[in-house]
Amino acid sequence: MSKITIEGGRRLSGELAIHGAKNAVLPILAGTLLTGRSVIHNCPALSDVTAACNILTYLGCAAHREGGSIVIESDALTCCDIPDGLMREMRSSVVFLGAVIARCGSARVSLPGGCELGPRPIDLHLSSLRKLGVEILEDHGYLNCSVPEQLRGASISLPFPSVGATENIILAACMAKGDTVISNAAREPEIEDLASFLKTAGADIHIKENGTIYISGVEKLHPVEYSVIPDRIEAATYLCCAAITGGEIRLRDVIPEHLTSVYPVLEEAGCTVQTDQSSIRLTSLERPRPIRMVRTMPYPGFPTDAQSPLMALSSIASGTSVYVENIFESRYKHAGELARMGARIKVEGRVAVVEGVDKLHGATVVCTDLRGGASLCTAALAAQGVSEITHIHHIERGYQDFEKNLSSLGAVVKRI
Ligand code: EPZ
Repeated sequence: MSKITIEGGRRLSGELAIHGAKNAVLPILAGTLLTGRSVIHNCPALSDVTAACNILTYLGCAAHREGGSIVIESDALTCCDIPDGLMREMRSSVVFLGAVIARCGSARVSLPGGCELGPRPIDLHLSSLRKLGVEILEDHGYLNCSVPEQLRGASISLPFPSVGATENIILAACMAKGDTVISNAAREPEIEDLASFLKTAGADIHIKENGTIYISGVEKLHPVEYSVIPDRIEAATYLCCAAITGGEIRLRDVIPEHLTSVYPVLEEAGCTVQTDQSSIRLTSLERPRPIRMVRTMPYPGFPTDAQSPLMALSSIASGTSVYVENIFESRYKHAGELARMGARIKVEGRVAVVEGVDKLHGATVVCTDLRGGASLCTAALAAQGVSEITHIHHIERGYQDFEKNLSSLGAVVKRI
């Protein structure tokens, strides 16, 4: 089991390039099932990306990496089922469902496994696919999906702007017969990126200001070359890493608008943030200030994926900060591990009260999930002494070269 050690107390400073977005590249890789040949640039080297390529290969695609790009040939598909093992490797494998159904007219996948963030039902995915004409039978943990006639366009109003459900609808509807309208769709930049990838391949998709998505089904998509957007959550994480050490950082190859909801929170914590077309510069105070209230919301609200790294920052603030996690039921597992480092965090359901302490101290802590793991590393950068962070396979799912990047900013990080 790999682990890293971090010796805290070093002020971080320097510059980093941000990699392609995990949460954009995964649905785009599912979309390559519809285009024949795809060359995807700015593809981060992450274990989740490997898991997605394993699914594509299992389905009969040829997938190979050329540096920062992945080339997918999906003409010769051999099957339309995804076995349990592959589905469980990555929670978001569920977005392959819409693409496999659109490509094959049927699919058999196991129900996606449990997750550290609490219950993650896919009822909105299934009810939406049914509206598009899919028949779905659940049997012994598997979903058997078939399209008796043809996928047909439909009006779908989502009770909650689910990212995954919106992606599955787009993937299934882009080659359906007729028009689909998704109201209260998710508005995350990763949704726009999926739509833009499919449009580059010939799809007819329009996203309105208010987030409503209009899709006119087309007969065929064509081969495509596409570059994935930068990872706004990776960027938010490094901003928190610099801020917790009283440091400064410049992030390049980012789209600063994607973090508009994050800047006011960092400024409230005492940071100064400057942006230009494709970079973000942050300078911070010696000790962060408390943040009155952080409420995680669907985009353009504050991203739930940045909640954990930011909480590490609040754990040494000069006062008390309050967090409300509105997206996932139990996304505070990192709080217990931060407490081992001396943090004072009270969790009551979806609310966490973080009473800032003067100093954290090194400890052995366990990553419980991807962003929780990033939170522990962020805290360790400011802690007195050495921290040992275990189960870092969680971190490798979403951060490329994490230790190398932190070391390049002046941190003392070792992989064991
Ligand atoms: C995506 O997950 C991201 N994952 C998550 O990032 C992110 O936290 C989340 O969106 C919210 O922004 C990927 O893009 C691969 P949802 P997803 O469907 O699609 C409930 C990370 O750290 N819900 O918007 O699963 C659900 O239980 C990961 O990179 C239903 O009830 O998110 C959850 O509480 C973690 N029924 C909420 O909606 C459904 O059918 C948000 O889920 C679908 C969702």
